[in-house]
Amino acid sequence: MSPSVRHFLSLRDLSPSELSGLLESASRAKLGRDGTDRPLAGKTLGMIFNKHSTRTRVSFEVGMFQLGGHAVFLSDRDSQMGRGETVPDTARVLSRYVDAIMIRTFAHAEAEELAAHASVPVINGLTDLLHPCQLLADLLTVREEFGAALDSLTVAWIGDGNNVANSWLNAAALLGFELRLAVPEGYDPDPGTLERASREGKVRLVRDPREAVEGAHVVTTDTWASMGQEAESETRSEAFRNYCVDAALLGRARSEAIFLHCLPAYRGKEVTAEVLDGPRSRVLGEAENRLHAQKALLLFLLRRPKG
Ligand code: CP
Ligand code: NVA
Repeated sequence: MSPSVRHFLSLRDLSPSELSGLLESASRAKLGRDGTDRPLAGKTLGMIFNKHSTRTRVSFEVGMFQLGGHAVFLSDRDSQMGRGETVPDTARVLSRYVDAIMIRTFAHAEAEELAAHASVPVINGLTDLLHPCQLLADLLTVREEFGAALDSLTVAWIGDGNNVANSWLNAAALLGFELRLAVPEGYDPDPGTLERASREGKVRLVRDPREAVEGAHVVTTDTWASMGQEAESETRSEAFRNYCVDAALLGRARSEAIFLHCLPAYRGKEVTAEVLDGPRSRVLGEAENRLHAQKALLLFLLRRPKG
């Protein structure tokens, strides 16, 4: 692997100032003050999808198109990876064709292995452990609502300690906002991610959703059964019964609080329709921000001078 190649497998691959700068350039680009015409002309992004996607696939593909480049979609249903071609071989071969690789898969170690053998930047489009691209969009949405000084804010995560929750932990540690997670016992976030974020940031794990939401600026949640956990759906619905974000729970947050959800959402499970489709919800702007944030990420990774 070339030492000058930067990957984006975790928010932790960025310094706090790089992360803030990336969000700033995403805001500027969204306002049309980007100033560069087709900056990625001639560049191609390979996109490996071993799980379903709507937002991630479309936002990366449209983002590359808008920047003057191109994206190639590879699913495990029709690529040789799905028939057992090794990750290192795939990484080395794709690096001869494309300028960056995005991967959505199950084991985080697979994304790390791809990065270890690729000579182009590798982007994590979601693993069982992390979903850092989602956080770029979420943080951009929060900035639009409350301004760029995120360290004075409180975010409440309600529900499963999953890949998105783990990425919120990394974001809290990097940017200094307070993060309270209300998670039922047995569904805690990744222990290493939680331990490090608790050491470095203002992070608290509680069991009562009301305690997490009290006075928060942002209330956020996600599905109770992530991709790959479909067989546990029923058990999880029972375990998370008291973790639905409804109007009463959201009413405990600040009066100007917003609701976020990475989508897809399950109305009547982790969130009521009243909240998801209500006036505090910013979920559509959040989904749109996937496009703006990832364009900034692609420019950050692909316009770096060659080392
Ligand atoms: N939020 C998100 O990653 O959506 P998709 O699964 O549709 O890509
Ligand atoms: N936690 C969810 C996020 C989907 C975008 C999952 O991994 O399925």
